[in-house]
Amino acid sequence: MKITPSLLSVLALSVGLSAFTVSAASLSLTQLDLTLTEQQGRSPKATAKTKIADKVFSNGFLTRGSSDLYIALDGKVATFTASIGIVDNPNYKEGAAVRFEVLGDSHLLYASDSVHPGEAARKIEISTSGVKTLILVVQTIDRLGTLAMWADARFEYSGKAPVAIKREIESAVILTPAAARTPKINGASITGVRPTHPFLFKIPVTGDRPIKYSAKHLPKGLSLDAKTGIITGSVQAAGDYTVILQAKNKLGSTERELVIRVGDTLALTPQMGWNSWNCFASAVTAENMKGAADSFIKSGLIEHGWTYVNVDDFWEYRPLPGDPIEADINAHGLALGKNPYHISPMSDPKLVGPARDSQGRINANARFTDMPGLVSYIHSLGLKAGLYSSPGPLTCGQCIASYGHEAEDALRFAEWGFDYLKYDMCSYRNYMKDTSRAEAIKPYELMGRMLHNQNRDILFSLCQYGDNDVWEWAANLGGNSWRTTGDINDTWGSMSDIGFSQNGHEAYAGPGHWNDPDMLVVGQVGWGPTLHPTRLSPNEQYTHISLWSLLAAPLLIGCDLTQADAFTLNLLTNDEVIAIDQDPLGRAAHRITQDRDVEVWARTLADGTVAVGLFNRGEISQTVTVHWSDLHISGQQAVRDLWRQKDVGSFGGEYSALVPRHGVVLVKVSSNGG
Ligand code: GAL
Repeated sequence: MKITPSLLSVLALSVGLSAFTVSAASLSLTQLDLTLTEQQGRSPKATAKTKIADKVFSNGFLTRGSSDLYIALDGKVATFTASIGIVDNPNYKEGAAVRFEVLGDSHLLYASDSVHPGEAARKIEISTSGVKTLILVVQTIDRLGTLAMWADARFEYSGKAPVAIKREIESAVILTPAAARTPKINGASITGVRPTHPFLFKIPVTGDRPIKYSAKHLPKGLSLDAKTGIITGSVQAAGDYTVILQAKNKLGSTERELVIRVGDTLALTPQMGWNSWNCFASAVTAENMKGAADSFIKSGLIEHGWTYVNVDDFWEYRPLPGDPIEADINAHGLALGKNPYHISPMSDPKLVGPARDSQGRINANARFTDMPGLVSYIHSLGLKAGLYSSPGPLTCGQCIASYGHEAEDALRFAEWGFDYLKYDMCSYRNYMKDTSRAEAIKPYELMGRMLHNQNRDILFSLCQYGDNDVWEWAANLGGNSWRTTGDINDTWGSMSDIGFSQNGHEAYAGPGHWNDPDMLVVGQVGWGPTLHPTRLSPNEQYTHISLWSLLAAPLLIGCDLTQADAFTLNLLTNDEVIAIDQDPLGRAAHRITQDRDVEVWARTLADGTVAVGLFNRGEISQTVTVHWSDLHISGQQAVRDLWRQKDVGSFGGEYSALVPRHGVVLVKVSSNGG
């Protein structure tokens, strides 16, 4: 009998791959443990009979968005061959593109240029002799959500069979020195409030306790509690009031200006806070919200400007089959009793109850028995409170939402004392006459108006996943932020694809209105009730916070703060990094240069300095350089490393840094003396 390479691969499989040594064999990539692939959300798949540009391949390794797979070889694998391309699917957005790369022991063995949907598969044959670790990489270049395929991919080997392995992850190093013991005032330098509306502001101060707070030139109507540092009251007359905030402890004193802009614009800097979704999702309770608020105080997050404590979906009741709204919902192609997230707390009896009272007012479910009490507790700590609804009759989690009750709901939210509403499209899609921009704007314009009618400020956060180029119209109807993408999850593929795809949106961001690339996925996350540590590596987490700060994104922590460890808190409390996000000029970063998987993003700050992120999206450490000419500056420039809070020196012409896999070096560049 003739022993063919493929027969050998079958034999190899039957006796266990890692131990089997043969002289010449062939193994399909799909026979490896593909679950070790790093990619967004769903498990990577081995597939059969899938098409690229109408050509059918017998098998393929299918990945979603950016992904990487590490494979151990023994140096005796002669070749890796594959056909690469994007799987046929009519729904891809125009302009979608990915790049394929193959690395062997830190060397680039193959890199494609942009691969677009509809393009014929490219056949690659790579010599892998001597290679010990092979890495297969797909990187999204533009437009999210494509399915890339390594089709009919095989290894020809003479030693041990290739084995998929877990990549080694760097240890979690805290880069930032502890805050000084002397008092320091942190957070935004400007805040907005509407005339006559309640004002609430906690002066964020680090340093040894006790701190004594004072303020000079507070406008009439506001007063400061010298013990807590909380300013409350209301101001009648519009205008800019420059207040001098002061803080003193036994080691020293400090002061800083705060502009209180009494006018019509809220969110003069991007909102900073916590949201329940990425951790508790449908399992959220009032205790979780209170726990988050208490953690803001205990862990000191409040002293760095973190303010909003927001409950997402599932504070409402879920109408079940038989509910009066069922007929209308059915007529619009929706059905009650669905479990969109397939998770157990959906059947919690505390979610079953009267969604609205006899006057049509929305009720909080039995997990939130005292909404006004909860909100006033949050306020008493100097924090603000947020909640969630949908313009449709149902939220994405099938709880009751605001359709037809917009005025009552806005009033109810204001009466309860809320300061923030996230308004999520969800079931409204079924109520739109068509997919036009006018139809998409309608429900948001309506709720924007209703919120504006209230006697308190309610920040308006739009969530419709970036449809209808929302950035072009949301600010006009009072939107303070708008989601630019679908949901994030705690994977490199998801976070990096979303973050690095924001280029071009910067033109639409500015004081009062911000692009929202979704909430943070650091710390203990998990979409409830079971949590896990984020799957982002430490360097990926530095990239996440750096990029979101450069983007002037709303910063909404998505983890269980009661379990936040020192590394997570360090990520969230570096005042020099937060200051980039909160810069009062509000000019969001864009991509300055890109060379394959190396990118430089930068934004100009109010003081004329420039914040620069040197990013490495690749699998191996690389030197990343920013040239002054690309920043339109020249001469000697002082460079400060913001994560390490350290001056690194003065540089002429350019600055380079070695940046680790999936990592960042975030710096501030200022002309010497400036
Ligand atoms: C999604 C939204 C998430 C979360 C969820 C709640 O549509 O993007 O951020 O709010 O609904 O059901």
